[in-house]
Amino acid sequence: MTTHLGVNIDHVATLRQVRSAREPEPVAAALLAQSAGAHGITVHLRGDRRHIQERDVRLLREVLAIPLNVECAASPEAMKSVVPLKPNWVTFVPETREELTTQGGLDVVFLQAHLRTVIRELRTSDIRVSLFIDPQLEQVKMASRIEADAVEFNTGVYADLPPGNDPGPELDRLRESARLAARLGLRVLAGHGLNLQNVASVAAIPEVQELNIGHSIVGRAVLVGLERAVQEMLAAIAEAGA
Ligand code: PXP
Repeated sequence: MTTHLGVNIDHVATLRQVRSAREPEPVAAALLAQSAGAHGITVHLRGDRRHIQERDVRLLREVLAIPLNVECAASPEAMKSVVPLKPNWVTFVPETREELTTQGGLDVVFLQAHLRTVIRELRTSDIRVSLFIDPQLEQVKMASRIEADAVEFNTGVYADLPPGNDPGPELDRLRESARLAARLGLRVLAGHGLNLQNVASVAAIPEVQELNIGHSIVGRAVLVGLERAVQEMLAAIAEAGA
């Protein structure tokens, strides 16, 4: 089976928020990703609401035909916002205000008691739970023990290796962790920092069922779409002068 792609549209919302404007509309971006063949849409509802807003999640839930995954902190405030929005999936990530993007995976071993409680709570609302973790066997075992539905392996360390560094050991950690997670019955995802150059080695791990990719897709969309956007503006200007 080919690996599924979940498209993270946070950065479409980032572009909207820098102007407090109406566009670009993340819901339109999600529908385009869906019609292009994406298997899921992911958004991160951050505590500081720096990009995605509750309104976006509500509309996405209404219009999407593919599953919606909401990343958030496993905090009471986040739960109060996310549970009523009823996404198909919630992915718990560590979150600090200062970070530019998610840094590292959750420490599921340390947070086991709290996470077990919130996973149960979400299950009663028919929401499945994924945990964003580093590729470490003890984290995988604990994710299974506290009855998560899925784990998403942080590929950030692999993706951020400086040129010339051997990616072999980190890929081995990802492969071994993915194997264990699948054996324990967890759905296996991976993501963070993946792009056209580095995605193949992760997509080739047989147990990885889905990749969540955002920044590189939205960044590339700006470049491949720029020519057309300029042509459209030139046409609009020319029409006014005609
Ligand atoms: N998975 C998780 C848990 C994330 O927090 C992010 C970033 O929001 C991604 C995947 C996507 O990472 P990137 O934007 O680098 O593709």
